[in-house]
Amino acid sequence: MRHLIDFGDLSRQEWDELYARASQIMDSPRDFIDVCRGRVMASLFYEPSTRTNFSFQTAMLRLGGTAFGFADPNSSSVAKGETLKDTIKMVSGYADVVVMRTPWEGAAKAASLYSHVPVINAGDGGHMHPTQTTADLTTITRLLGKVDGLSVGLCGDLKNGRTVHSLIKALAKFEQIQFFLISPRELAVPGYMRAFMREHSMRFTEVTGLEAVIPQLDVLYMTRIQRERFVDPLEYERNKGVYILTRRKLERAKERMLVMHPLPRVDEIAVDVDDDPRAAYFQQARYGMFARMALLADLANQPRLEQTEAVEIGIRPVCRNPRCITQTERYLPPLVKRSGGLDCCAFCDGALE
Ligand code: NCD
Repeated sequence: MRHLIDFGDLSRQEWDELYARASQIMDSPRDFIDVCRGRVMASLFYEPSTRTNFSFQTAMLRLGGTAFGFADPNSSSVAKGETLKDTIKMVSGYADVVVMRTPWEGAAKAASLYSHVPVINAGDGGHMHPTQTTADLTTITRLLGKVDGLSVGLCGDLKNGRTVHSLIKALAKFEQIQFFLISPRELAVPGYMRAFMREHSMRFTEVTGLEAVIPQLDVLYMTRIQRERFVDPLEYERNKGVYILTRRKLERAKERMLVMHPLPRVDEIAVDVDDDPRAAYFQQARYGMFARMALLADLANQPRLEQTEAVEIGIRPVCRNPRCITQTERYLPPLVKRSGGLDCCAFCDGALE
């Protein structure tokens, strides 16, 4: 069973094929109106969402399929204490594909162990968000014609910003990317991402200032400071409003640089940037729908697994990350993987040593 839990699940060739399909859909959407006829998508949103939820739903509708689900977990049996495993066992009996967003890191991976149909990770806490990356890469390829060889600035909350982590993972599949990681020191990329970049010999420079690096960038990817992920509210107060992109700051940027943002924005891009031809974020949101159509056309048409494999029952979590799904769903197996030379939790990527 193929799932999309982490962008690493896709090979470069699979991405190229997905992009080619997304492009065809954009160019002639009418050819795809029956591709998911009779297929049903479940969307389980345990966290707020506008774009991801709506774009998945409209993607399915435009392919001729239908969707059901919840956007507020309090309206489901989760509120009665149902485990993720039971919810997934049941929902994957009703649907042909399951799209899920949760505040717990590694939850989509956990769901995939028990699901009879493909699971798509629409964001798991501050960990990963691979379908946003399909939107991001579609935008870059469509507007700049290529991804290889670009200088990419990632700016804002790189610690908690799951879209950033997935984008870095994806860009490891391209040639000659130069990263500028622009963040306050306390919001720098997590250790597992730094280890990943080193392991893949990726070129990156970590800086705290945006203005000095702007002239070098082909893509500037702004992100929101992820208020809901802060344990200490003072840490949020210290960091909010730290980067604000304005038209004046853009004066020194390349003429064809793309300003991207997964949205929602808070204050990190001033509204006067919206009319600059380099502002790509609203287009990016629309491209996200086409990228998700391409993904659903493939995954929602996978044959259903009648029987899932038996999964070992865990006794206590081996991972110490308090946001890891293994902390709350105690029956999960103690899966470990080797990454960046370290033993890591196979759900949330947290180092175990
Ligand atoms: C992002 C997310 O949910 O991680 N939004 C989105 O899916 N477009 C970014 C964010 O919330 O800051």
